[in-house]
Amino acid sequence: MKIGFIQTSPLFGNITANVEYAVEKIKSLDSDLIVLPELFSTGYQFKSRKEVSLLSESVPDGYTTRMLMDTARRMKTFIVFGIAEKGRRGFYNSSVLVGPRGFISAYRKSHLFWYEKRFFSPGNTGFRVHDIGIARIGMMICFDWVFPEVCRVLALNGADIICHPSNLVLPHCPQAMITRCLENRVFAVTANRVGSESRTAGSPLKFIGKSQIVDPDGRVLCRASDNKVETMVIDINPKLARDKRITPKNDLFVDRRVDLFIPPKFYKSRRYKVFS
Ligand code: ACM
Repeated sequence: MKIGFIQTSPLFGNITANVEYAVEKIKSLDSDLIVLPELFSTGYQFKSRKEVSLLSESVPDGYTTRMLMDTARRMKTFIVFGIAEKGRRGFYNSSVLVGPRGFISAYRKSHLFWYEKRFFSPGNTGFRVHDIGIARIGMMICFDWVFPEVCRVLALNGADIICHPSNLVLPHCPQAMITRCLENRVFAVTANRVGSESRTAGSPLKFIGKSQIVDPDGRVLCRASDNKVETMVIDINPKLARDKRITPKNDLFVDRRVDLFIPPKFYKSRRYKVFS
């Protein structure tokens, strides 16, 4: 299976140019699955909810999703991309999966980063996995990486490949994703962007690039630069992610001591203490 990413440098607010760039790139590739960055069609740093309202689109009937559905159909490929989604009750920082037969699913970012909290509603779609025939696909977006539960739940739900549209600004994620893949024995495609945005006074953002694909053994199969627009496609066997054994006597999922894990309600109390 040929999987890859397009590391972009979007023009803020120019949806047509950003989408056309991605469509042309995908048309030039031989791939089964391509991942684009978070908010690839709009750019990242919104100034106001008004701006989000003007640049967000409904899914799947908005322009960006229709263009990528058309591209997926023509090129017989699957595409995951980040988009500002106009929902019925708010705006979401979303990731969409489309394929040769059209729209498959949208994931709404669960863990919003910094000023995203001003503009987007927290996601409400959970962590579903989609069987596209050649592999089972899960999605998460950028800062979700900090919460190991996201990859774990996607892996427990059967994901072979985690598609991870991103706009990373902190330096840690590329290395951290190695551990996420190792501890869940999954593939992950992190599609990040490069360039910078300083649309809000005092908050310049520089995006770190380094898009990458990691395998279930934690090997970085390919990694892009930190400053160039780049595309990489590699061949993988997604079924390798179905074997959760680390040694003949250790299975990642079977060995989990769920009986000792702290019940989630414990964390809800602001006053808990741990005594030893
Ligand atoms: C991020 O979640 N875009 C850092």
